[in-house]
Amino acid sequence: MIIDGNKKYLNDIIIIEKKIYPQPWSKNHFENDLKHPAGYNKLFIIDDKCVAYLFGYSIKDEFHLNNLSVCKKYQKQGIATLLLNDVIQYSNNSNLSKILLEVRCDNYAAINLYEKFKFEKYSIRKDYYKKGKDAFLYTKSIK
Ligand SMILES: CC(C)(COP(=O)(O)OP(=O)(O)OC[C@H]1O[C@@H](n2cnc3c(N)ncnc32)[C@H](O)[C@@H]1OP(=O)(O)O)[C@@H](O)C(=O)NCCC(=O)NCCS
Repeated sequence: MIIDGNKKYLNDIIIIEKKIYPQPWSKNHFENDLKHPAGYNKLFIIDDKCVAYLFGYSIKDEFHLNNLSVCKKYQKQGIATLLLNDVIQYSNNSNLSKILLEVRCDNYAAINLYEKFKFEKYSIRKDYYKKGKDAFLYTKSIK
């Protein structure tokens, strides 16, 4: 079940975040994003636990997708697909023109996911991540 971002689930989110990323977002980062006036933050809940989340916000007519994560146990079960479909529908309904995101160049699961959703690579940020890994910048037009 998808629900709105809610600080009740912050501990679940932090546990997933720390397991998944070498440079995890801090609790403070999530708390601030939950208060963002243009924020669109969604959680995927199973048995009253958050198992996946999507954090982003709009700037003018762009939606910036800043974090999409699914805990390991629930990956490859279509949850990111549900969260992405949700944010695309939101962007459509809100008359946004595009969704923007960045992804590590060797994150094949995420790259496959975004390309399946017809996101297009439009730029590269050299050495953006630790160990000299580049970031690929992707965008998807809405409408
Ligand atoms: C990337 C991620 C969000 C995908 O979530 P998910 O719920 O497992 O994805 P879905 O089950 O909805 O899969 C949808 C598509 O994504 C791609 N995909 C997902 N996992 C994949 C994997 N391990 N290897 C290759 N492609 C993968 C496939 O194209 C898949 O479509 P298919 O099932 O028809 O092959 C998840 O692996 C994750 O949280 N990774 C760690 C955090 C991260 O890297 N987030 C993205 C940062 S930009």
